[in-house]
Formats: sequence, C-alpha cells, structure tokens
Amino acid sequence: MEQTILQLSYLIGSITFILGLKMLSHPDSARRGNLVAATGMGIAIFATIFLYKDHEGNPLGNYPWIFAALIIGSVVGTLAAKRVQMTAMPEMVSLFNGMGGACAMLISLIEYHHNPTPSTGILLVIVLGMIIGTVSFAGSIIAWGKLNGKIKDKSISGAQVINFILWAALLSLSVMLIGGYTTESWVFYTILILAAVYGVLFVMPIGGADMPVVISLLNSFTGVAAAFGGFLYNNPVMLTGGILVGSAGTILTMLMCKAMNRSLKNVLIGSFGAAKVGVAGVVKEQGNYKEISLNDTATLMAYAQKVCIIPGYGLAVAQAQHACHELEKLLEEKGVEVTYGIHPVAGRMPGHMNVLLAEADVPYEKLLEMEDANDQMSSTNVVLILGANDVVNPAAKEDPSSPIYGMPILEVQKADHVIVNKRSMKPGYAGIENELFFKPKTSMLFGDAKKVLQDLVSELKQV
Ligand code: TAP
Repeated sequence: MEQTILQLSYLIGSITFILGLKMLSHPDSARRGNLVAATGMGIAIFATIFLYKDHEGNPLGNYPWIFAALIIGSVVGTLAAKRVQMTAMPEMVSLFNGMGGACAMLISLIEYHHNPTPSTGILLVIVLGMIIGTVSFAGSIIAWGKLNGKIKDKSISGAQVINFILWAALLSLSVMLIGGYTTESWVFYTILILAAVYGVLFVMPIGGADMPVVISLLNSFTGVAAAFGGFLYNNPVMLTGGILVGSAGTILTMLMCKAMNRSLKNVLIGSFGAAKVGVAGVVKEQGNYKEISLNDTATLMAYAQKVCIIPGYGLAVAQAQHACHELEKLLEEKGVEVTYGIHPVAGRMPGHMNVLLAEADVPYEKLLEMEDANDQMSSTNVVLILGANDVVNPAAKEDPSSPIYGMPILEVQKADHVIVNKRSMKPGYAGIENELFFKPKTSMLFGDAKKVLQDLVSELKQV
C-alpha cells in the first residue's frame, strides 16, 4: 500500500512538473505554473522521506539531518529569492543552477563511496553524472561571477590545447574505471578534479555577448546530471524533472545560438569576443553625437503614428518598467500605436525583458519578437531605446572585425527617428562602442531611464 502511494506521488510530481512547465510559457499562467510544479515536487519529496524503503525494506532514516537541511535550504532560498534585486536575478539563477550541478556531483560521490565496485552500468551513470554535474557546478559559479562583474573575461593562451588535454584525460580515466581496467579510487577523484578544472576553463574565456549560450548550456547540463541521479535511485520524478530541464535547456541553447547567429561549436571553441573584450570601454573618436531635450522628445512622440520601444539591460537596472508602461498608455491615449521590440538576448537572462515588462502589466500582445519588430521598422516613426546597447549595435551587421559580427540586431535605423536613452557614452555588456549613437538619425537622451521616463510622462501631459 505504502509503495503504491509512493509511486502515485511520483506520478503526481511528474505530471505537475510537466503541466507547470507548460504554464510557464505564458505570463498570465506562469505564477500558477510555478506553484503547481513546486507543490507536485513537495509531494514527491515528502513521500520519499516518509514512504521510501530500500531493497532490504529499511526506511530512509536520518530524519534530523534531512529536516535540518530542508529547513536551512528553504530559509536561505526563500530569503535570497525575496531579497534579490531584479537586476541580480540572472546571477541568482546561475548560482541556483550551479547548486543543482553540485547536488548531482554529490550524489555520484556518495554512491561511489557506498559502493566503490558497482556494476559497469551503474558506474557509467555515476561517472557521467559526476562529470556533467561538476562541469555545470564549476561553470555556473564562474558564470555567476561574470554576470555580477566579479570575474572578468579572460582569454587563456592555449585554452583549446588545455581543454583538449583535459578531455583526453577525462575520457581515458573514465574508460579505465568504467571498463574495469582499474578499481583505484584515486582515478575516480582525479576525474572529479579534472571535471571541475574543465568547468572553470570552459566558461572563463567565453565573453562578450556569448554568455546567453553558455548559461542555457549549463542549465541543460544540470538537467542531464539530475536525470542520471534519477537513474541511480530509480526515481521517476528525478528522471522526468532532469530530462525536462535537460531538453528545455538544450532547446534554449539552440535558440540562443540562433539568436547570436553562430554554431555551438563556434561558441565553445571560438572564445567569441573574449580577445576583443579586453579593450572594453575604449571608445574611438567617432565624430559628434547630438542630444535631444525632453520637450522635443515628447513632441516627436506625441505626433508620431507609430512608436517602437526597445528595452535593454539598463531598463532593468533603472527599474523603469512601470514608468515605461505609463508612457506607453499615455501615448496610446493620444492615438499613437506603441509596440515593444524584444531582442532574444536583451538583458542578462533568457526572457529578461518579457519578465520585466510583464511585472508592469504591459500587455503581452504589444511585445514583438525581433523578426516581427524588424518587419515593422520602416513604417515606424520613432524608436525609443531604453538602456539597450549591444542589441542595436550596427557593428553586428557592418563590421566583420567586431566581436558581435553576425549577431542579428534590431534594425532601428530603418525608422524615421532614433532616440537613445542611457546615462553616458559607455559601452554595454560586450564592451564595444556603438556607431548607432553617431548616426544622423540618432539623438541621445541622457539620464537614468526611470527619471527620464517619469519626466517624459510629465512633458507629454503638457503636449
Ligand atoms: P547592454 O548592451 O549591456 O547595454 C545596456 C546599456 O544600459 C548600457 O550601455 C548602459 O549605458 C545602459 N544603462 C545602464 N543603467 C542604466 C540606467 N539606469 N538608465 C539608463 N541606461 C542604463 O544591454 P542589451 O542591449 O540589453 O544587451 C544585452 C547584452 O548582455 C548582450 O551583449 C548579451 O549578449 C549579454 N548577455 C545577455 C544574456 C541574456 S541570456 N539575455 C546573458 C548574459 C549576457 P550607460 O552606462 O551609459 O547608462
């Protein structure tokens, strides 16, 4: 009976996870989706704790340890999620992803420790789970440091050769261990260390605008590593969850590669942007840029027929999404058609701009994907760029020597007027200058996005 309830709760956990994931695909249902999946997982976790029996019929035991860890984890997780600034969300997601990888690594370590001479099949699962989990853990920690600016992009000389040697060593040691050519435990622990070194070296040189691909790739690694844990424990929820995260992460990686217009191989071995990012902030003399006043901006927008707002990372930094929605409503009241052009890698995490604007209740239908926004650009009168930089940089199309060359961009120059709001002439994430700011159609509207938008709303009310 108990075992039937346990299996039933695993079924509920798996179904709610799938339903939750489906619901996450729309902002209206996303919050509920999260809750549905979390409830299902909660049921599966508690069922495991109280109903699981090993093959000798022993319950899990260790309750004080389990509950102490559960309480500490829940308190830390809840506080971190509640307190995190919206702009620090990508780092937190990266860190949490790394924790998933660390769990998979620990599962493999513990299972190996329990049984250092398992069958070949089990050993394969243990070793693969450990390698992928460790790479994900070490890589995510580096990604976390890069996203919050604590770790700088570093091109490592001979990185490709070092990575090749690491791969060869990992492969040969794994074959030795899994194939039964050795039972020495040092081989196992050497694999662990090499995987950690590889995780660091693999993410370290990837820089410029290529981080989105790496982040989603690490995400899929964690999913796959968790699925290996599911195999080990014969646990269907872990398996379903792991496979879903692994496949969702893989699809996202492919989409991100498409968004950056480059192959995964190119991202991984090309160290895209890394060398050139070293000159971040060095802005060549580009000629003059012109500024526009708030009053002129308000007039231009009020008399436009079509306005396209391009949000970027700076909008999230300024927490200006509500002010932005207010501006959009005011313009619509004046009969102006307003849309948002969303670049797939705008911000610092996949879907960052969608989440940000949904928080301010911007109607989802107003958000145009990059291709659709570009189709409408030539019939747009005013483009208002709010804290975006790399995603509108024409160098991606025009300058083969640019580290972002080849990345599709929002083609704002096709519109009649381009207004760029940012605080200075400083570069964006990729660390490169942006010629758009010096083009004849472009006017700069300097200032913090929130303050500028609030002032713009006041000006617009007078027009
Ligand atoms: P960025 O190119 O990073 O540019 C953001 C701009 O916002 C900066 O130039 C900054 O200029 C401005 N800014 C900052 N704070 C501001 C404020 N309070 N008010 C107004 N402006 C402000 O952003 P983007 O165009 O969104 O491009 C995203 C970049 O991040 C891409 O290179 C992408 O590859 C990378 N990236 C993306 C992801 C994902 S998954 N989306 C993950 C990692 C990295 P000032 O300092 O002059 O104000």
